Amino acid sequence: MRYNEPSPLEVRVISQRFDLPNSASIDTYLANEGYVAIKKALDMTPEAIIEELKRSSLRGRGGAGFPTGMKWSFVPRNTGKPTYVICNSDESEPGTCKDRLLMENDPHQLIEGMMIAAWTIKSNKGYIFIRGEYRYLIEIVDRAIAEAYERGYLGKNLFGSGWDFDLYTHTGAGAYECGEESALLESLEGRRGVPRLKPPFPAVVGAFQSPTILNNCETFASVPVIIRNGGIWFAELGTPRNGGTRLVCVSGHVNKPGVYELPMGFPVMRLINEVCGGMRNGKKLKAVIPGGSSAPVLRAEECENLPYDYDSLAKLKTMAGSGGLVVLDEDTDIVAVALRTIKFYAHESCGWCIPCREGTTWLKKILTRFHEGGGQKSDIDLIGDLADNMLGRTFCALGDAAAMPTTGFITKFRDEFEAYLKKSQTTAPVPELVNI
Ligand SMILES: Cc1cc2nc3c(=O)[nH]c(=O)nc-3n(C[C@H](O)[C@H](O)[C@H](O)COP(=O)(O)O)c2cc1C
Repeated sequence: MRYNEPSPLEVRVISQRFDLPNSASIDTYLANEGYVAIKKALDMTPEAIIEELKRSSLRGRGGAGFPTGMKWSFVPRNTGKPTYVICNSDESEPGTCKDRLLMENDPHQLIEGMMIAAWTIKSNKGYIFIRGEYRYLIEIVDRAIAEAYERGYLGKNLFGSGWDFDLYTHTGAGAYECGEESALLESLEGRRGVPRLKPPFPAVVGAFQSPTILNNCETFASVPVIIRNGGIWFAELGTPRNGGTRLVCVSGHVNKPGVYELPMGFPVMRLINEVCGGMRNGKKLKAVIPGGSSAPVLRAEECENLPYDYDSLAKLKTMAGSGGLVVLDEDTDIVAVALRTIKFYAHESCGWCIPCREGTTWLKKILTRFHEGGGQKSDIDLIGDLADNMLGRTFCALGDAAAMPTTGFITKFRDEFEAYLKKSQTTAPVPELVNI
């Protein structure tokens, strides 16, 4: 099921089967162009599959937006080692809730995307890493995998090609850090989920020290339609270098929050006003967090005429990240949002490296003091300095994910931090923490 009404402005490509009866079953999938792409891929060379992905301008939907075709081309073949295909369905970035819909409503599309990846690098084994909190989804995906085995879409000698592919689900234990690709691999291999030193990247040394394709769930789910309809077709749905559609998860102060599939480059203000029914209670827009909680905030005026795609957001020094867009109205207390955000990262820092472990803890302490009315003017710069000193200095990007939004809140809403100091000298009550 979907949890929100679809919008007529959506372009339903990877969510096209979501509303069909028994959409998760293999029969529904087969009746609606399912497993057509893998049969086509079996007649293609790995180079041709990768070229199609490059033409599609598909970029990773997990956070960094790395071009998928290029990533697959980095995987060395014929090394004598096994190769692996891993799906990242850890989905822990606050504001993001789309992979769950893909697994709940169309798990075979994900399986087929992973099969195409596996065929490309002649991998015989894949894992879907699902966050532990998604227990009900593990059952749905396991059922889909069992159906695929029963019908001969997984297992030995697939389609008489001589190629075998086995697929398994693996559950995380509820740690945000395990969504980071190298920590995910540690966790998958049965160790504590802490990041590995990079390079080497997983493409070269990934699961079990072997070459690995590791992508986000939505990235894999986008692959079958690219192989079926062609890379150019997919690319033209979006903007140059930002191909296709994207499942955008909208939360916050809008009338109709939800997950909507929109072409890349869809204007942010149309998304708020036309797709999501406008601001709740007729309030004014104050700010937008565009790509999950680690994306630096945008002021309302920056969202005018802003296309929602990787490059347009990068120009504004923020990011489309994991596609979680949080809309904040004029009554939102930005200091409270900054504190709520850093509390998440301080809680989720795995503690492996010092700048992240200490940095997030100190940011939380200073912001808590500030929020409670005990702040000083110098704290504003101290918060900014601390965050700047974390950036790029941590073992994995969790430190960046904590530092970037913090710096964003300070630089974009310094006036609100300064006003807080004046307010704290009166007896104004402490505003409540915001749950985003
Ligand atoms: C702390 C942290 C958490 C992450 N969590 C996720 C996640 O839940 N899901 C995801 O797909 N990627 C997550 N990523 C990004 C992954 O490391 C990786 O870049 C991504 O899965 C690659 O897939 P893609 O190229 O298809 O985007 C996270 C990164 C960091 C630093």
